Formats: sequence, C-alpha cells, structure tokens
Amino acid sequence: MKRSEINRLIEEALDLFSKTSFLLPPFAFWSPEIWWEIGQEANEIRENTLGWDVTDFGLGDFSRTGLLLFTIRNGNYAKKDRYPKGYAEKIMVVKEEQITPMHFHWKKREDIINRGGGNLVIELYAADRDEGLSQEGFAVSVDGIRRNLGAGDRVILTPGESICLTPLLYHSFYGEAGKGPVIVGEVSDVNDDELDNRFLQPIGRFPLIIEDEPPLYFLCNEYPPARK
Ligand SMILES: [Fe+2]
Repeated sequence: MKRSEINRLIEEALDLFSKTSFLLPPFAFWSPEIWWEIGQEANEIRENTLGWDVTDFGLGDFSRTGLLLFTIRNGNYAKKDRYPKGYAEKIMVVKEEQITPMHFHWKKREDIINRGGGNLVIELYAADRDEGLSQEGFAVSVDGIRRNLGAGDRVILTPGESICLTPLLYHSFYGEAGKGPVIVGEVSDVNDDELDNRFLQPIGRFPLIIEDEPPLYFLCNEYPPARK
C-alpha cells in the first residue's frame, strides 16, 4: 500500500469515529515526532502493538480485501509477567463489500459488535480436523440467543448487534452493499497476530508500504524504540 493511502484512510476513520462519537485514547492522535520523543513510559503501547493497523492482507487492493483497525487495549502472551491482561478491544472500519478473508483463531474468542453505520455480513464455517472448511453445522450465540447454522451460512449484524466467534470457527466479513461503512467493535481474549491467525488461503497480515509521503501516524508495528 502507498503511505499516502494509509494516511488518507486513517484521517477518514478519525472523521467517522468522531461523527459517531466513538472517542479514541490520546495515543491515536500522536504524530511520529511524539513517538520519537516519548520514552519507556509508552512501552505498553509499543510492546502490545496498540494503535493503528491498516492492511490489504498483502493483496494490493484495499477497497476489495482490506481492513482498518485501531487496537485500544491488549495483553501479551509472550510477556505475560509484564502484561497479564487477559483481554483485548479493537475498533474497526469495514466498508461496503470490503472483505476480511476467511480465518479462525486457535486461542482467541472474540465478540464482533456492530457499533454503528451499515450492516455487517459474517460468513461462517466450522473448521474440520485438517483446518479446512467443514460441511457440518454448528451453533453460535448472537447477543445471548443461540442460533444453529449450516456451513457457509451468513449472519447479518445491524447496528447494536453482536456475535460471539469461538476458537476454530472460520469467519469472513464485509459491509452489506448499499448500507454504508460499518464501525465494528471487537472485545476478545488477548490478540496475537503473530501466532493465532489461521487464514484459509495463505496471505499476509500486514501490508508492504511504499513511502510516497511522510506518515501522519505510525502503524502499530512501526513505533521507534524508546531512547530514554
Ligand atoms: Fe477474527
């Protein structure tokens, strides 16, 4: 992705969050200059990769296959002594027909919440023993109501609704056409993008970036180390 595109998408997301009164913590607005200055007191943000995350999943077509996320809080399995927090929270922007590819998590249980805007369509499959798509049925909980589903069934979340995605449950999602972008929340166990994502098709989790202009904001994997 070009840096100019990432800059524009973050500005657009900030505008959307502000219009819908979803307020972000101070570090969402920190410039690269602040990041070069701030010391070890911000290590929790650095080490737990909190903050902006814009990805085209390495496929080079963000509007078709992509996701913009902001991680508000997270623990860290690899540094549990320092960060024993067992939960995570994210806010995302999912555009109409913009796909997050089919994947599951071995460990993470996540509630996906439609926090406003359009409708979120989620396509679901159980994983089989070989981590492929099972044709078996399964049950999910949609705001406390159990729903029995078949392979490939879709659940549509309107604003305010949420679904609990259990480990080993394959999910792919996108915004419903004609309904506008969706602000999507995630409340989950600790998020570990290094080890806990199983994509059905092998794809990249983070984009390759072409630096065609300076970054307005660092992404969560770009923070410089503390110098003091
Ligand atoms: Fe997921």
